[in-house]
Amino acid sequence: MLNLTIVGRGAIGTLLAARCIEQNIAFQMWWRDAVTTPLSITMKDGKQHQFQQGKGQAPDILILPLKAWQIAPALDEFAEHIPTSCCIALLHNGIGTETLALNAFPDNPLVRLTTNRAAKKQQDTVLETGYGNSQAGWLRTPGDQVKQETEALFNRLLSPCEWHRDIRIPLWNKLAINCVINPLTAIHNIANGGLQSPHYQQLIAQLLDEFLLVAQAEKLTFEKSDLEHNVSQVIAMTAENYSSMHQDIHFKRPTEIDYINGYLLQVAASHGITLTAHQALYAQIRQLESV
Ligand code: PAF
Repeated sequence: MLNLTIVGRGAIGTLLAARCIEQNIAFQMWWRDAVTTPLSITMKDGKQHQFQQGKGQAPDILILPLKAWQIAPALDEFAEHIPTSCCIALLHNGIGTETLALNAFPDNPLVRLTTNRAAKKQQDTVLETGYGNSQAGWLRTPGDQVKQETEALFNRLLSPCEWHRDIRIPLWNKLAINCVINPLTAIHNIANGGLQSPHYQQLIAQLLDEFLLVAQAEKLTFEKSDLEHNVSQVIAMTAENYSSMHQDIHFKRPTEIDYINGYLLQVAASHGITLTAHQALYAQIRQLESV
């Protein structure tokens, strides 16, 4: 049986631990030794689970369901302790940690995931807030047996989970959604559904136009109508929820802006493209983070 280790005390990591219990998958959680309080979660069906720090067995699969900005320090911390056979899985919003992970673990299998499952955390208590599908792709593919076992495990853990030959397509699709919903809800202090107001439609259209310019420069093909549909569908399906960036600003935590609008701006700059609307949102979030 594969030894699955989930790193950190984040909302999505705790949700994965609960999914392991539901799916009868053996796992352990790793977090800093100094933290001794257990983590608890209430699922949408009302079931509750509680978790303690694991015993420290060497993992076969190490999942990093962390904030994007926590990935670099986590990679540094684990680089010396993880065997080369261990599969490292990155699961977070935004883009930009993939090369770091490939360099920090030059021989390990690496998988990149994104999920529409949702949970939110307040202190040590997590609440499952939404179901959704997940997307996965290999950044470095292992041999056939490990590949099959790992894919089967994620298919159970994050079902339904779709595997892609080029993970960049689903990651950019999610980036388009996060580039719009996350900064706007944080800046205007509204739930996702607040973006259904006619007041935001012109700006949303401009943000998507700018996104398309960069995607085209990267030779990634998206239809504007698909992006508009995806954004409005997520807004409608998560209308009552507060986005992760809204929560980060609200609880005075660092945001993932550098890996969302910041990533898009960085790729745009590498093609000599200026993005006025994304730049403005980026500056406003930076300002809110410094308050
Ligand atoms: O970051 C988030 O909050 C979520 O990815 C999303 C899809 C924007 C829904 O709130």
